[in-house]
Amino acid sequence: MSSSSHPTVKLRSADWFGRKDKLGFIHRSWMKTEGFSQANFDGKPVIGICNSWSELTNCNAHLRQVAEAVKRGVWAAGGFPLEFPTISLGEPFMRPSTMMFRNLMAMDVEECIRANPIDGVVLLCGCDKTTPAQLMGAASADVPSIMVTGGPMLKGRWQNREIGSGSDVWHFWDELRAGRISDEDFCEIESCMSRSAGHCMVMGTASTMTSIAEALGMTLPGCASVPAADSRRMEVAERSGKRIVEMVYEDLKPSAILVRAAFENAIRVNAAIGGSTNAIIHLMALAGRLGVALELEDFDRIARTTPFLANIRPSGKYLMEDFFYAGGLPVVIRELLPMLNRDCITANGRAIGENVAGAKCFDTDVIRTLANPLVAQGGTVVLRGNLCPDGAVLKPTAASPKLMQHTGRAVVFEDHEDLKERIDDPALDVDETCVLVLKHGGPQGGPGMPEWGNLPLPAKLLKKGIDDMVRISDARMSGTSYGTVVLHIAPEAAAGGPLAIVQNGDLIELDVPNRKLNLLISADEMQQRLKAWQPPVRHYDRGYGRLYIEHVQQANHGCDFDFLRRYEGGEELKGDARSFKRRASAKLPSPF
Ligand code: FES
Repeated sequence: MSSSSHPTVKLRSADWFGRKDKLGFIHRSWMKTEGFSQANFDGKPVIGICNSWSELTNCNAHLRQVAEAVKRGVWAAGGFPLEFPTISLGEPFMRPSTMMFRNLMAMDVEECIRANPIDGVVLLCGCDKTTPAQLMGAASADVPSIMVTGGPMLKGRWQNREIGSGSDVWHFWDELRAGRISDEDFCEIESCMSRSAGHCMVMGTASTMTSIAEALGMTLPGCASVPAADSRRMEVAERSGKRIVEMVYEDLKPSAILVRAAFENAIRVNAAIGGSTNAIIHLMALAGRLGVALELEDFDRIARTTPFLANIRPSGKYLMEDFFYAGGLPVVIRELLPMLNRDCITANGRAIGENVAGAKCFDTDVIRTLANPLVAQGGTVVLRGNLCPDGAVLKPTAASPKLMQHTGRAVVFEDHEDLKERIDDPALDVDETCVLVLKHGGPQGGPGMPEWGNLPLPAKLLKKGIDDMVRISDARMSGTSYGTVVLHIAPEAAAGGPLAIVQNGDLIELDVPNRKLNLLISADEMQQRLKAWQPPVRHYDRGYGRLYIEHVQQANHGCDFDFLRRYEGGEELKGDARSFKRRASAKLPSPF
């Protein structure tokens, strides 16, 4: 396919490579240092391959090979592929939290696309935050884009029992602290858990977000579930490379795919797969980039009518490899079709309903039917109350049914250091009926809203055989975690939310069926305590950290920067923000 067969499409890259003047000379001549022939500058669509490869992001460390497969597809379709790096976010390593850098990566992706001669983009991601960061950046740049996810790792196996990344770390850590396994066992499990390329292979944040990318329509059908080590990962990459060239000619942009109906589909799919609570934050942020009005209550409302179907850990029994063999995400989507917006257009140019119509399930225990779900209602509940006026969330499928309505005495940890110091202290005044409270784990307080929300249980209670307690915080929780854990309390403690004034011994009431979370003190007492509250010392006085703390929004808005959202509350921004939008979309001048 050549541009001459698409005379109506004006390529962005033509403003760099199609010119006959001095600028055209500069653009072509300097690119020729890489050995590209003149034929590549004669109207071929330039396809940027946005690669989050990094040896510091082990989950994405195979993406150079995936990029090669994408390039094969681009060349075959008559495009001109150019791979470029951005920052990458490695979940196990980055401090204080990859979440703090998601917006930085999104800005990197957006500006690299906008600043360069790129007609279409293939986004290569995998580890937790790399997927939403790329989606957010591509949505703001709004040139034709398709995502190729890196795929989950193969299953872990220790002493002939299957183990899953993340989830089993928390499990075996508790086993070690309770004295039920040895230090040697714990060390051996490290190797057995991570035995191939790819991202975590439970339904943690990575598998959740790659599945959501597919449910939104930003990947080819079936992309999310293929294991990283399976040759079909390269095959879907090659087909995606071919497809992006067509998308350029069709001018199929993220803004045409990522519409409100697609978000509703993604929220429903997230509920059916038992997806991570982190998806709420990322979807809210992505919606903000596109001006799609989304509320926390949309997640609760849709979850109430969505059964939990994907029997994958941490909420289920199996691992992502089993999910793939059972038919993968297309089977879940096909099962949900009666409840989905079937006409949403996807990256392959077809409607989502059409894509999955022929999907077959090969194991109905791994992917349940609507008639035989694991739980009648999946997803996340949204709580409100005097402790969380702007909302909090809880994932019932990962929680204990007996704790869904519980009132307990607060045991308060002022921050994560305080928690680490005292949680295993034999003198800690705590029993299993208490509510563990962690403050200063939010966007500003963490900073970066680390995944501290599933507070460890006190060792003395673990030894008694206690395996769950109510825990509340303004932090997030790893998608691989489980427990009766209230997260994302907004406003956070560091911003002066009511969480900041909870004291040891206060009674806290969690009532999930009625969506309530309350601190049982009088309104007068609450006002007095809030009046006496003093803001904590900020973590940063310069650099990106300062930018982050000054501009990050609360969890209920997705923790994006205020200046990166396109709309606020469904209304177009006024004044300066509006004129900024005009400037950003204006033609960019050349430096020469
Ligand atoms: Fe990268 Fe889990 S550490 S997905």
